[in-house]
Amino acid sequence: MPSSRAANLDFNASLSQKVQIVNDTLRQVLARQQGIQEDLHKAMDYTLSGPGKRIRSALILWCCELIAGHETAAARTAAAAIEMVHTYSLVHDDLPAMDDDDLRRGRPTCHKAFDEATAILTGDGLLTLAFEVLADGISDAALAVKLISELARAAGPAGMIAGQVADLKAESTVGTVAMLEYIHTNKTAKMFRCAATMGALCGGASAESLQILGQYGLKIGLGFQIADDILDVSASSEQLGKTAGKDLKAAKCTYPAVVGIEKAKELERELAHEAVVLLEPFGAKAAVLRQLALALLDRNK
Ligand code: IPE
Ligand code: IPE
Ligand code: MG
Ligand code: MG
Ligand code: MG
Repeated sequence: MPSSRAANLDFNASLSQKVQIVNDTLRQVLARQQGIQEDLHKAMDYTLSGPGKRIRSALILWCCELIAGHETAAARTAAAAIEMVHTYSLVHDDLPAMDDDDLRRGRPTCHKAFDEATAILTGDGLLTLAFEVLADGISDAALAVKLISELARAAGPAGMIAGQVADLKAESTVGTVAMLEYIHTNKTAKMFRCAATMGALCGGASAESLQILGQYGLKIGLGFQIADDILDVSASSEQLGKTAGKDLKAAKCTYPAVVGIEKAKELERELAHEAVVLLEPFGAKAAVLRQLALALLDRNK
């Protein structure tokens, strides 16, 4: 078997294992919570249990493993926390006031399955719970504070929220590459940088390793959003589990719209290559992160 095929099999097996761990941890976290209002609990469970790809949370687990040689309990908690924040961002992103989407992870969006107020509050609930879980679930207090700080910064008003504001503001304007870099870096890449950094922190990484893995996360995160833009114009709704072709309708500032699909693909490849180069100091231990960078180039959902 050619080695790239063998590597692919390894990568897919490792990802499936991580998805399983993340799903189990999310289920346990939600089951443990006392006193969540019943309707809200249903809606939180509905959104969290949807078949997300769990890439950010898997990235936490892989980066922890790379540094510590194994996955820690703190990394599993951090993985659940980032997945809750990411899922909240999707629930709000789909609201009528934002992207107005009906389909997510192959199911009706939260505001369609429930109602708009419930979707807003479900997002609020997931976002807040993520930080409670980090504060209460990680026994090393200094590590908990660092993780909370990383996640708050990446998801906050100088991170994902900034990107979401700029994304909406850029609708129906003449997009520039500078605008795209700002939007995509903030709305998506910073959460990937955060995931890599959180995983590295859980593993007890040196300042140098933290820096390298953070940069790696930023590169694959930017590539991830470029791929998301490309898939919006090239894949079907069935394949994506979300409505295809929405970006053009909403006149979004996307890479295919501003630089064209070929150039967007080229940029995506460049970013993956740069991400792989960054991993050199880790040698063979970083094989799965190398495969992740390459696998994201070929993703079809
Ligand atoms: C969708 O993220 C939003 C983007 C930042 C592109 P994902 O493609 O990771 O969505 P799920 O979690 O797999 O549903
Ligand atoms: C969403 O970007 C980024 C978030 C921070 C949620 P998109 O609006 O392109 O994501 P999809 O295509 O709806 O998943
Ligand atoms: Mg959006
Ligand atoms: Mg959207
Ligand atoms: Mg999109």
